[in-house]
Amino acid sequence: MAKIIDGKAISLAVKDEIKAKTAELQAKGITATLAVILVGEDPASQVYVKNKKKACEYCGIRSLSYELPADTSEEKLLELIGELNDREDVNGILVQLPLPKGMDEDKVLDAISPDKDVDGFHPVNVGKLSIGKKGFVSCTPAGVIQLLKRSGIEISGKECVVVGRSNIVGKPMSMLLLKENGTVTVCHSRTRDLREVTGRADILVVAIGKPKFIDASYVKDGAVVIDVGIHRGEDGKLCGDVDYASVEPIASAITPVPGGVGPMTIAMLMYNCLSSVCED
Ligand code: GUN
Repeated sequence: MAKIIDGKAISLAVKDEIKAKTAELQAKGITATLAVILVGEDPASQVYVKNKKKACEYCGIRSLSYELPADTSEEKLLELIGELNDREDVNGILVQLPLPKGMDEDKVLDAISPDKDVDGFHPVNVGKLSIGKKGFVSCTPAGVIQLLKRSGIEISGKECVVVGRSNIVGKPMSMLLLKENGTVTVCHSRTRDLREVTGRADILVVAIGKPKFIDASYVKDGAVVIDVGIHRGEDGKLCGDVDYASVEPIASAITPVPGGVGPMTIAMLMYNCLSSVCED
């Protein structure tokens, strides 16, 4: 029987700490402001953006909302980002992904000032993470580290295996685990004998975007299993990249889907917004 890592409760604890800190700052006349840009009408993105704004409200962070039609030109979007970069009353800028087809996502993300890049996607922040300098860190992997730490799971010296090498999760996840002195292996679609590699993991982080892909045959007895995936199954229920029913009996700790990593992403976005106005 695994310990269930409760992302909902941990994310609430993080948000409450942020709320207390923003109240302190408010008393000194400092307010953090996040500008959220959504282009088009992707329903999932609309839900994400609504949840981000709700979290801002809860945490005492001001949010500005820019909802642009799907046929907005890249030039217009870049112009808006430029204006927000220049505004002193805006501390964080977030462009919700994916952008409509035809827009150059890299160009748009690169246009955000690294000092306001609360998503941690800008090459400057990615570079800072890779050389151990302070900068904004991608929210989902930062949330995974918080889940581990706040569940009392030691990372130092452990065999950490990350399945998935995306720029947003897999790569920054491996950097963060390395920073915590884990021994890190990154697996991907070309990895030979995936089971052999994942089977060595003390801490297994799965972010491959394939529903219920990792079953017990990939997992060592007593491993900690962190599931970053989220999918709507054929039965209409949400599931992760991990086959929970198969893995839970052999893991020592596991994140559920929903209620594991998901809520931490927004909590860490709030953390990044707070750190955009204060050092500690
Ligand atoms: N789309 C899916 N996840 C994310 C995220 O973390 N940030 C942004 N900006 N867009 C996303």
